[in-house]
Amino acid sequence: MQVLVVADADAVARRACFEVIEGLTGGAHRANGPASEDLVLGLATGSSPLGLYRELALAQDAGRIDFSAAHGFALDEYVGLPAGHPQSYREVLLREVCGPLRLAPERLHVPDGSHTDEESLIVAAAAYERAITQAGGVDVQILGIGVNGHLGFNEPGSSLASRTRVKRLTARTRSDNARFFDSLDDVPTHCVTQGLGTVLDARRLVLVATGSTKAEAVSAALEGPLTASCPGSVLQWHPDAVAVLDEAAAVGLRNRPYYDDSAAGL
Ligand code: F6R
Repeated sequence: MQVLVVADADAVARRACFEVIEGLTGGAHRANGPASEDLVLGLATGSSPLGLYRELALAQDAGRIDFSAAHGFALDEYVGLPAGHPQSYREVLLREVCGPLRLAPERLHVPDGSHTDEESLIVAAAAYERAITQAGGVDVQILGIGVNGHLGFNEPGSSLASRTRVKRLTARTRSDNARFFDSLDDVPTHCVTQGLGTVLDARRLVLVATGSTKAEAVSAALEGPLTASCPGSVLQWHPDAVAVLDEAAAVGLRNRPYYDDSAAGL
């Protein structure tokens, strides 16, 4: 696991962009260089990755990467929002990723949370797992972390081996996300989320976290025990995980001098 601490949110976006592009283009499985139709990017929503998406768009404009024929797979989706709801993660990703990155909308994959009965949601979750496999697996999964340590919408207590499935959102997550809705009552109670086992299958994980509200979750995830009580701790189990943090999010890290030495190549 690499822990990179940089000055502020803008620097996090730039460094995370570098790490994502390196993961997409530099892996041994792409020894002959990337063909854009082969790229599979795992997409997080929420505030944390927005600067990263802007940087990736700039990188594409500069000719460093081409997302026009890539596949994008969302981490999660709310259950029960009507199609086209502006806060459904499909709509958010169409706005924040497909437009700026020129990623073809038909190559954006989002778990289907539109069903109202449990059985159909289970079938849709299994179909989502198959779609990831058929695309060749996720090359780079972009991640944010919840203040309670959740990854995707895998809330504390989620199985470390879980696959895409329906989860109930915690009261904390619903109140944190109420800022995107008219009222707390409008925030869905359930979601369909990639499981922690699904996330771990991605070839590289790039976590972005900024601000002091994330400091506790970041320390627990990166330096605490590997535990379902902190889903973000699965980063420790992945062979190629990179955490890009600003100073405020990194404030609780005990091993900071070591991370800085490693980042400096010492
Ligand atoms: C988003 C997601 C969540 C968020 C997390 C942080 O698809 O699955 O895990 O990454 O809730 O959200 P922000 O970035 O808004 O603080």
